[in-house]
Amino acid sequence: MFKEIKKNIFYAGMNDEGRLIFDELIPLDKGTSYNSYIILGSEKTAVVDTMYPKFTREYLKSFDDNGIKKVDYIIANHGEQDHSGSIPALLEKFPNAIVVTNAVCAGNIKEMLGVNSDKIKIIKNDEELSLGDKTLQFKIAPGVHWPDTMFTYVKEDNIIFTCDFLGAHYIFDDVFAVPSKDLEKSAKKYFAEIMMPFSSVCRKYTAMLKELKPDMVLPSHGPVHKNPSYILDLYEDWAGEKGKNLVLLPFVSMYNSTEIMIDYLADKLKEKGIPSVKYDMVTGNLGDLAIALVDGTTLVMGTSMVLAGPHPAAFNTAYLASILRPKFKIASFIGSFGWGGNLFGKMADMLAPLKLDIIEPIQVKGLAKPDDYAKLDKMAEEIYNKHKELGLV
Ligand code: FEO
Repeated sequence: MFKEIKKNIFYAGMNDEGRLIFDELIPLDKGTSYNSYIILGSEKTAVVDTMYPKFTREYLKSFDDNGIKKVDYIIANHGEQDHSGSIPALLEKFPNAIVVTNAVCAGNIKEMLGVNSDKIKIIKNDEELSLGDKTLQFKIAPGVHWPDTMFTYVKEDNIIFTCDFLGAHYIFDDVFAVPSKDLEKSAKKYFAEIMMPFSSVCRKYTAMLKELKPDMVLPSHGPVHKNPSYILDLYEDWAGEKGKNLVLLPFVSMYNSTEIMIDYLADKLKEKGIPSVKYDMVTGNLGDLAIALVDGTTLVMGTSMVLAGPHPAAFNTAYLASILRPKFKIASFIGSFGWGGNLFGKMADMLAPLKLDIIEPIQVKGLAKPDDYAKLDKMAEEIYNKHKELGLV
């Protein structure tokens, strides 16, 4: 059954409990939800965002089960198919319906889904659409996370549909958010993968929504926020420009030589009051890595050598860090090798877009010797000094 959220506004989404991974990249703890909403105005009916194609048949049936006999407008806040995928089928079921969206999203829906131009009404920023006793106002919000994104605000109810922005890969029975460690972790992992590359844009829209003061924020993944400041405060922190007093230590270690050095460095940092997060790049959960990327200021990667270069798992992590664009300021590398090759050059190249302050790397043949431990002491001292300069310790 659709769930009434406010008078004549219904949740019509679905949980995908079996989904183990999103974008074939980030493992999910307990699946995700694809949120669709129905607004019954006194004259017109609107659907806000639709459904992941896999569930189209079930989604369309839910309209019959809930007595929805007409749809006038399909509001597309974003063209990605987990929200727009069921638009063609919904247009077939309700042939008089019109898709309402911005010009960029209209282009995507036409090209990606084959929707005809005559079925699309293009709106401008702040344009309004009346449903009778409810007025929709569209707030074009490019960059969270596609160039085509927008929010839909219901003026009379003071609520806003934000699509991916402020979402979480989370399943639920009660549609309203109950703050918990689990929800925060899911929302943070979601932020890391989907929103972190656009942190400055996130700051802009977080501030905009704080000023708007909606009574409710309704994203298209995860629960509805009746207390929007809960998720907005978290976004303010995660998307902030300044990292925390934290060092991330991703490592891969074939003979333990690299891991011993990573552990030694972690102990030295701890002695100086700097916490660290160790992450096994081979067996670790990529979601945990993404979460750790949100907060840290310094990245020290440890890798063994495979043939004449770093272990491929180290490339994978360096590449992910470079595209997710975390707020790290400082980096270095630690590694062990058996015979020749360049252990760190290509990894540093991959991280170059982050414009990090690189501390002299440490490359060791086999196990670390007293001289190498002295270099690790020096690395810990340099990290401490740089964190101090940044006002973190
Ligand atoms: Fe949930 Fe960008 O789609």
